[in-house]
Amino acid sequence: MAQIAYVNGRYRPLRGEAVALEDRGYQFADGVYEVIKVLGGRFCDLKRHLDRLQRSLAALEIAPPMTRRALTSVLGETLRRNRLREALVYLQISRGTAPRNHVFPKRPRPSVVVTARRPAFPSPSEREQGVGVISMPDLRWGRCDIKSISLLPNVLARQSAAAAGCREAWLIDSEGQVTEGSASNAYIVDGSGRLITHPLCERILGGVTRSVVLELAQDDGIEVVERPFTLDEAYQAREAALSSTSSWLLPVTAIDGRPVSNGMPGHVVRRLMARYAAYLGVA
Ligand code: PDD
Repeated sequence: MAQIAYVNGRYRPLRGEAVALEDRGYQFADGVYEVIKVLGGRFCDLKRHLDRLQRSLAALEIAPPMTRRALTSVLGETLRRNRLREALVYLQISRGTAPRNHVFPKRPRPSVVVTARRPAFPSPSEREQGVGVISMPDLRWGRCDIKSISLLPNVLARQSAAAAGCREAWLIDSEGQVTEGSASNAYIVDGSGRLITHPLCERILGGVTRSVVLELAQDDGIEVVERPFTLDEAYQAREAALSSTSSWLLPVTAIDGRPVSNGMPGHVVRRLMARYAAYLGVA
């Protein structure tokens, strides 16, 4: 069955020309996106994703192209037309199409694209053995809190990780601190069992999964400390983890080829993985 995408009011085959050459998303990466998980036919954390979308749009002064209700029905219809019960739904809104000029067009009509794909969630072995990450300099801009489609430094970092046989690249700022991964948030657990992750600010994306994981940790009596941690601290950590919509929560068991602790997932991260699966209703 051909995959179906929603493009500016129409449902059409995913393969095929649909977006204008002068779409500002295509020419300037002038747009925002969300990736939303669907399990059992249900959108997970939809409200949190739509709240973040609204924030990203507002930060770039792109007017919401439709109401939340209309957008929700487009998301649902795209899912339905692709006959998927488990999916990753991608939603992208660009400022719209206009003759190429850096200055915003006068009355832009934002372009909206939605796709739904069969997800490649982590394998049982990644969940049980953990994954490796490499460290890379954080070369991104100063507003990583906006979920912008401008992802070139993330793409390059992720490609380096893949070339090194690793799941993710952890990005290191000029002070030697781990900000986050190229497409996920980063955590360590210290010797006292505290869960440490970079605080929300303009240098990281406020992950939806991050927000859920921190709430679950607190409910479970795990102390959460939102502060930057250095790469050296990560090398010495008792446990480490990453989280994202598509990766869920995964143990990180090697950093730059060095095992984290004994190189096996630790009990804090395993407990949180179980809590997160229960939260999603798949435990
Ligand atoms: N990535 N940090 C960055 C830079 C990200 O791109 C993502 C998400 C996250 C985690 O956010 P969330 O928990 O809301 O997925 C953190 C998405 C999934 C992607 O680019 O495909």
